[in-house]
Amino acid sequence: MELASATYNRTSVAEGYGDSIRKRWIFYDLLTNKVADLASAYLPEEGLVIDLGCGTGEVAKRLEPTLKIRDAKYIGVDQSEEMFSEASDWLTECDGRDRLISFEIGDLRDRFRAGLPASVVILNLTLMYIPPEDRQFVVEAAYSSLSLGGALIIADRVDRYSGYFSEVVRLSDKHDFFRSGMEFSRNLRVIGFERPLSEGLVSDMDEFFRVGEISGYIKIKG
Ligand SMILES: C[S@@+](CC[C@H](N)C(=O)[O-])C[C@H]1O[C@@H](n2cnc3c(N)ncnc32)[C@H](O)[C@@H]1O
Repeated sequence: MELASATYNRTSVAEGYGDSIRKRWIFYDLLTNKVADLASAYLPEEGLVIDLGCGTGEVAKRLEPTLKIRDAKYIGVDQSEEMFSEASDWLTECDGRDRLISFEIGDLRDRFRAGLPASVVILNLTLMYIPPEDRQFVVEAAYSSLSLGGALIIADRVDRYSGYFSEVVRLSDKHDFFRSGMEFSRNLRVIGFERPLSEGLVSDMDEFFRVGEISGYIKIKG
């Protein structure tokens, strides 16, 4: 929680999340639409989606029409009260939305104890905030919590480049970074807060997305 709370437990960050994430990763909508599309493809009638580190509910917003058609449920979990509050504001904007969608505050590492079988579990740009020593457990527990035929969907930073080139790729994902005249050193402050995954963690999953330093992976419960 420590890495995430330093970034996300601030009202200004939660309120500006949509704009800042699109500047951070210019392809954010492309990725998140794809995550929601894949989730829809594996969501049965009356199924359940668990979105771990759901933030302001961007995946829920995209999944809402499918949830209605399939009478399925979505539960989003996030450790940040500020992100939860933004998500909850959207939830209450529309009557009846909360019949299908709910948000909870909590550490996703504790979420597996509840033991509800899920049709889809999503970790969209969240694992980078989980300490590396807990990631294997989170990925395995998320997969175990799926019902047969369900899908685990992970999108995250992947540590596949090294040295100077890795920094160039990371910064080239940012909105207009190279045209803005910003210095590399200004970006070094985020080091340690967003630790990329090693490819070994997701080696048995299928890749469905790759742009710059971000990849998306899926694994179906067999
Ligand atoms: C980059 S945001 C991604 C939000 C969302 N998944 C999306 O696609 O827009 C990362 C989110 O993970 C949450 N997070 C990080 N560590 C967490 C943990 N241990 N338990 C629950 N949420 C966590 C943060 O609070 C933040 O909202």
